Amino acid sequence: MTNSILYIPRESSAVSLGADAVAEAIRKEASSRKLDIKIVRNGSRGMFSHEPMVEVATSGGRIAYGPVAARDVASLFDSNFLDGREHRLRLGVAEEIPWLKSQTRLTFARAGVTDPISLDDFIAHGGYRGLKRAIELGADAVIAEVTESGLRGRGGAGFPTGIKWKTAADALATPKYVVCNADEGDSGTFSDRMIMEGDPFELIEGMTIAAFAVGATQGYIYLRSEYPHARRALIEAIATAYSNGYLGANVVGSGKAFDLEIRLGAGAYICGEETAMLESIEGRRGMVRFKPPIPALEALFGKPTLINNVVSFATVPIIIERGAKFFRDFGAGNSRGTIPFQLAGNAKRPGLIETPMGVTLREIVYDYGGGTASGRPLRAVQVGGPLGAYFTESMLDVALDFESVAARGGILVFDDTVDMARMARYAMEFCAIESCGKCTPCRIGSIRGTELIDDIINRRRPRENLEVLRDLCDTMKFGSLCALGGLTPLPVLSALKYFPEDFGLAASDVDFIGDDLTISISGASSTHAIA
Ligand SMILES: Cc1cc2nc3c(=O)[nH]c(=O)nc-3n(C[C@H](O)[C@H](O)[C@H](O)COP(=O)(O)O)c2cc1C
Ligand code: SF4
Repeated sequence: MTNSILYIPRESSAVSLGADAVAEAIRKEASSRKLDIKIVRNGSRGMFSHEPMVEVATSGGRIAYGPVAARDVASLFDSNFLDGREHRLRLGVAEEIPWLKSQTRLTFARAGVTDPISLDDFIAHGGYRGLKRAIELGADAVIAEVTESGLRGRGGAGFPTGIKWKTAADALATPKYVVCNADEGDSGTFSDRMIMEGDPFELIEGMTIAAFAVGATQGYIYLRSEYPHARRALIEAIATAYSNGYLGANVVGSGKAFDLEIRLGAGAYICGEETAMLESIEGRRGMVRFKPPIPALEALFGKPTLINNVVSFATVPIIIERGAKFFRDFGAGNSRGTIPFQLAGNAKRPGLIETPMGVTLREIVYDYGGGTASGRPLRAVQVGGPLGAYFTESMLDVALDFESVAARGGILVFDDTVDMARMARYAMEFCAIESCGKCTPCRIGSIRGTELIDDIINRRRPRENLEVLRDLCDTMKFGSLCALGGLTPLPVLSALKYFPEDFGLAASDVDFIGDDLTISISGASSTHAIA
């Protein structure tokens, strides 16, 4: 008889912090003590400061211990941790840990709780209820629910998901495709990965509902090659879904077919841009396509293609299961529902925080993040990945929604040792390295931009070069074909505007940069009005 069930994450961050070694040490220790245990390799709850976090199922709930190292294992057994007893690493009932309890976990409700590759566990925790209801409702009503829910794309552009689905559904050409953008190239972001590693069936369910709604029969998950753990979890989950009738010619007896395959990227940031992604899936180098035609009407192999981000698809099942109103009731303004923020960089308590949209940056950085890991004063926060704007400490009361800041959920914290001129240079350099080369403002502009920042930092005609840099940023912003070139000015100009001293400039030198860095480009948008 198995006496104790333990949960040890198989998720990449936990594994990189030693979760595999901890699992092995626990197995060995239990065996030498002749104790019968069962280890479930779950996903992570996203509280990285406590990973590897080991949970033990007890009559009083799942008791968490962390961060556990292999060397702690013997003492955990000595303290009877299998009964949830006291130990210096004991964190208490997992669900009651304030960092987790204060979140609103809708999309990430199962992540870190279930065995990600167990279909039974998925179903026992509410999985496939959304699909069941979708089949009962029919395509039109499903699209109406998604529209009514207010869900907007979580991949960065914030486009209303229901409108996209309706456009794809109304397209006449067949076959139609559903493509999941799992490229997740933004530094400091990991929500897509955590879904794929921690709850892959949820993504499969969301894509299946989408396929039924728009009339697609084939789906692809475009996954970055840097995610081997996610790939393994997806391969296992897809195979299980096939063998249990949740994918294939007649999905759960509905009479509808849906096939799903993984396509691996080769490590180019631009392949996260949806049209470059399509090129890559079709076997070509990732170059951005002109729009129109929009993908919902004509994209993959020239056919109507519904493209959504991992979190967008993974949020659909709960919307369909609980109804549009349930989801809509969370959030603020036109930014409805919850969103997983990903706190990284120099944060004391980094990790994944799912909250209703509209939470302030200060709450994320201080209440959840605990300020800087170094304990030094916080100097800057970048919101929205490498193309996001920098905020100062005094700006942290901004509400995080689609209207005020980019809703790409990556948030990076920097302490007062950061050199913001280097960060601005890095933004231009990143653009130069990752540019697909199709349009001049980005391909050439990013290289000239790097040189101009070098000139300013090295006091070579700094004021003149600053003016040229400002002009160049406008050219990139308005003249780039996609948001890689279009958004790069945002980190550059916000660094200049708020941290001129790092460039050897005075505040009066950067006055002319202006107060409004609103940018909205096809493919992604980031709107940030500078106070
Ligand atoms: C340079 C660039 C990189 C992008 N990278 C990603 C990415 O890694 N993942 C993603 O979902 N969307 C990314 N996008 C946005 C996609 O083009 C697209 O808007 C998104 O996949 C649509 O899904 P959604 O409506 O569910 O957000 C990127 C856009 C640009 C311009
Ligand atoms: S902005 Fe850059 S990445 Fe985008 S199409 Fe132009 S060259 Fe390519």
